[in-house]
Order: sequence, then C-alpha cells, then structure tokens
Amino acid sequence: MTSKKELLAAFVLTLILLVVGVISYAAFPAKPPDQPVRLMFKGVAGNVLFTHKMHTSESGYDVACSDCHHNLEEGETDPQTCGECHEAVSEDEDVPAKTDAFHSQCIGCHQEQEAGPQKCASCHVM
Ligand code: HEC
Ligand code: HEC
Ligand code: HEC
Ligand code: HEC
Repeated sequence: MTSKKELLAAFVLTLILLVVGVISYAAFPAKPPDQPVRLMFKGVAGNVLFTHKMHTSESGYDVACSDCHHNLEEGETDPQTCGECHEAVSEDEDVPAKTDAFHSQCIGCHQEQEAGPQKCASCHVM
C-alpha cells in the first residue's frame, strides 16, 4: 500500500517537474519561424515553386538556415534576400550573378544529396 506521505511526495515531485518544464519551454524557444512556407520565383524560363518550409523543417528535408542563407549569423532568423548581394549581372567575379547563385546552390545540393530536381523542366514547371 502507498502511504499518504509517499503520495504527497510524488505529487510535489510532479509539480516541481511541471514548473521546471514550463520554465525551460519559455526560456528556450527552440522553433525558428515557419515563414515563408513556400515561394514562387517568376521568370522567363518558367516559374519555380520552392517549398521553403519543407526544405527547412525537421520532418521535411531538414536543411539548416545558414546552408542557404550563407551570411546568416547563428540565431538570426531574418535574412536578406539573395538579390540584395547577388545582382542580375555580376560585377565581382567572386560573387556569382543572381541566377547563377540560385542554380549553383539549389542544383548543387540536389546533386550532392542525389535528391531533388536537377533538370530544367523539373524545377521550371509552371
Ligand atoms: C533546382 C531548381 C532549378 C533547376 C534544376 C533549374 N533552375 Fe533555373 N532557376 C531556378 C531558380 C530558383 C531561379 C531564380 C529565379 C529568380 O532569380 O528569381 C532560376 C532562374 C532561371 C533563369 C532566369 C529567369 C529570369 O527571368 O530571370 C533562367 C533563364 C533559368 N533559370 C534557366 C534554367 C535552365 C536552362 C535550366 C536547366 C539547365 C534550369 N534553369 C534549371 C531554379 C532552377
Ligand atoms: C534550402 C534553402 C533554404 C533554407 C534551408 C532556408 N531558406 Fe529561407 N529562403 C531561401 C530562399 C531561396 C529565399 C528567397 C530569397 C530571395 O527571394 O532572394 C528565402 C527567403 C526567406 C525569408 C524571406 C526573406 C525576405 O525578405 O523575403 C525568410 C524570413 C527566411 N527565408 C528565413 C529562413 C529561416 C529562418 C530559415 C531556417 C529556419 C531558412 N530561411 C531556411 C532559402 C532557404
Ligand atoms: C549579404 C550578402 C549576401 C547575401 C544576402 C547572399 N549572398 Fe551569396 N554570396 C555573397 C558573397 C559576397 C559571395 C562570394 C564570397 C563567398 O563565397 O562568400 C557569395 C557567394 C555565393 C555562392 C557561391 C559560393 C561558392 O561556394 O561557390 C552562392 C552559390 C551563393 N552565394 C548563393 C546565395 C543564395 C542562394 C543566397 C540567398 C539564399 C545568397 N547567396 C545570399 C553574398 C551574399
Ligand atoms: C542543402 C540542400 C538543398 C538545397 C540548397 C535546396 N534543396 Fe531542394 N531539395 C532538397 C532535398 C533533400 C529534396 C527532397 C527530395 C526528395 O525527398 O525526393 C529537395 C526537393 C526539392 C523539390 C521537389 C520537392 C518539393 O519540395 O517541391 C524542389 C522543386 C526543390 N527542391 C527546389 C529547390 C530550389 C528552387 C532550391 C533553391 C532555392 C532548392 N531546392 C535548394 C535539398 C535542397
């Protein structure tokens, strides 16, 4: 038989764990923002649908923010757009033009991981 004392001890312990849990949850907001969910790139070659959240989320392809937003500091969640640094025509040979930057990053990873579209028409579908 469990005594009243043991029950009380169990109750107090549960309460302490609950409080610790709530504090930890509030102190370490682990989840990055879910936005944008998806993006549509429009262009002459046909529109590209990019499933941003799917690429990022753990249950999706689980890619780290900084793998794509390569200038993002640890913990930052508000990156600049690629086009702010990668211009339509490259003026610095070390900084690829915008289209090249996208192609090199998107296709580069799909090739490396042997997953995701690599052919023109499988990305430019619309
Ligand atoms: C992994 C997906 C992907 C693949 C594969 C891909 N592209 Fe793209 N492409 C993009 C993205 C993303 C952009 C960026 C659009 C932007 O700059 O807003 C783009 C931009 C372009 C643009 C510039 C469009 C414009 O109006 O500025 C052209 C042209 C283009 N791609 C042609 C091609 C060709 C040709 C191939 C095959 C050799 C190809 N793409 C393969 C994703 C892809
Ligand atoms: C697989 C590549 C990839 C990953 C991973 C990724 N992003 Fe992005 N993200 C992009 C691209 C590409 C854009 C569009 C940039 C543009 O329009 O030039 C974008 C756009 C954004 C924007 C909108 C920027 C704006 O001003 O329009 C935010 C905010 C953002 N990403 C945050 C994040 C965060 C936070 C993470 C990590 C949780 C993340 N991204 C992971 C590729 C990625
Ligand atoms: C704050 C400016 C800035 C932003 C924003 C930025 N880039 Fe870059 N990017 C650079 C510079 C500078 C280089 C050349 C030096 C280097 O490799 O860091 C570069 C290089 C690259 C390269 C070539 C790297 C290599 O190893 O060959 C790719 C690909 C690239 N960027 C893609 C992107 C994409 C895609 C985005 C948006 C998701 C983006 N960049 C956002 C400044 C930026
Ligand atoms: C660091 C790795 C990585 C980068 C960078 C990346 N992808 Fe992907 N992508 C993946 C993986 C992994 C898959 C999953 C393929 C599968 O599960 O079949 C995928 C799948 C896709 C698919 C097909 C499935 C879907 O979600 O629609 C498209 C379209 C796509 N990526 C577009 C892009 C575009 C456009 C970019 C650049 C803006 C990009 N990806 C950058 C890893 C990446």
